[in-house]
Amino acid sequence: MVVRPELFARLAAPEGEPVLAAATHVSRGDPLAAAQALRARGVPADLGAAALTQVELRSRAGAKFGADAARMFFTRAGLEQATRGPVAARHAARLAAAGVGTLVDLGCGIGADTLAAARAGIAVTAVEADPLTAAVAAANAAALGLADRVTVRCADATEVDLAGADAVFCDPARRTGTTRVFDPAAYSPPWAFVADLPRRVPRTVLKLAPGIDHALIPAGAEAEWVSVNGDVVEAAAWCGPLARVPRRATLLGRAELTGSGTAGAPVGPPRRYLHDPDGAVVRSHLVAEFAATIGGTLADPSIAYVYTDEPAATPYARCLEIAERLPFSLKRLRAALRERGVGRVEILKRGSAVDVQRLRRDLRLSGPAAASVVLTRVAGAPVALIGSPVP
Ligand SMILES: C[S@@+](CC[C@H](N)C(=O)[O-])C[C@H]1O[C@@H](n2cnc3c(N)ncnc32)[C@H](O)[C@@H]1O
Repeated sequence: MVVRPELFARLAAPEGEPVLAAATHVSRGDPLAAAQALRARGVPADLGAAALTQVELRSRAGAKFGADAARMFFTRAGLEQATRGPVAARHAARLAAAGVGTLVDLGCGIGADTLAAARAGIAVTAVEADPLTAAVAAANAAALGLADRVTVRCADATEVDLAGADAVFCDPARRTGTTRVFDPAAYSPPWAFVADLPRRVPRTVLKLAPGIDHALIPAGAEAEWVSVNGDVVEAAAWCGPLARVPRRATLLGRAELTGSGTAGAPVGPPRRYLHDPDGAVVRSHLVAEFAATIGGTLADPSIAYVYTDEPAATPYARCLEIAERLPFSLKRLRAALRERGVGRVEILKRGSAVDVQRLRRDLRLSGPAAASVVLTRVAGAPVALIGSPVP
């Protein structure tokens, strides 16, 4: 349902608390029955529906915000676009460590980054163009006891005076409707405005899509890719004095790797152990730096699989032991897997155009064993590697 700001204000006010509590209580069953149960308790239909939506969004939001989610408010789009709590906390800790005392968060959404910065002791002016989303951000600051450090302004970011701010954080909207926008020209606020922010406020952080073209990263900025449990969740440009290195891969809570982003790894024949680097390492162009940590080589200069003679215990990659290498052909791969009694395969690929779903169907496997199949190239030629994960 579309919630009007006036209706949201009633829900976020003290009068909304018992309604939210009742909605939490009745929401476990069928949604129609829950709405009827709220009406039976005298809750107006529109307020009841808005409360049930909040309860549903709070339950989804647990994955991003942990225990805070039960006290926070959301819009569907705002939750989808919000930075995960631990990632926002890391942004905030880094800003606070750089001595930032006041921050303008341009396009604050439901406020994930604003709230984390306020928790780190930073006074935040949070700017949001959409009135309902701005009201949600303000309600979140109040709900988490941070209202004294957060001022929410419903305004167009492009019209905000940035004079006097220690730092600026900008996480532009990258979607139109339900479609992801990969073209930075379609960012909102517009890319030209976003890209000019580091000139206006040197200590600027730009949150960007993980697929951002490296050529668009502001000159001199540190570009960081962050992954959580193996999924790359964002790229960010740390500009001006906030930059520490040209490129950083952060495997949140596990490890960080830094480097130039321009180095090439040594190339050689494939070896017994293949390391499949975390997406943050690959996206940040730090494969050479990773290869150096394990004395590894590539089998093709353009493909990010790193090979070693011994398995390396590394946080930066998954390791597979390779038992067999074949020139790629469906017939030969099928025969090799059948000979090994393989009925279950995981298929990895880099540098191969093969349709994995279709290959899986065409292999028609049956058998008790499991294997990993890697489709890749060695010195330009397509190959299939058969192996198994090293625990
Ligand atoms: C990606 S979301 C921000 C998410 C936020 N960092 C968080 O973690 O919750 C981008 C937000 O920018 C807002 N926005 C888009 N264009 C804007 C503009 N010109 N001025 C202010 N806000 C804008 C959108 O409404 C959206 O809420």
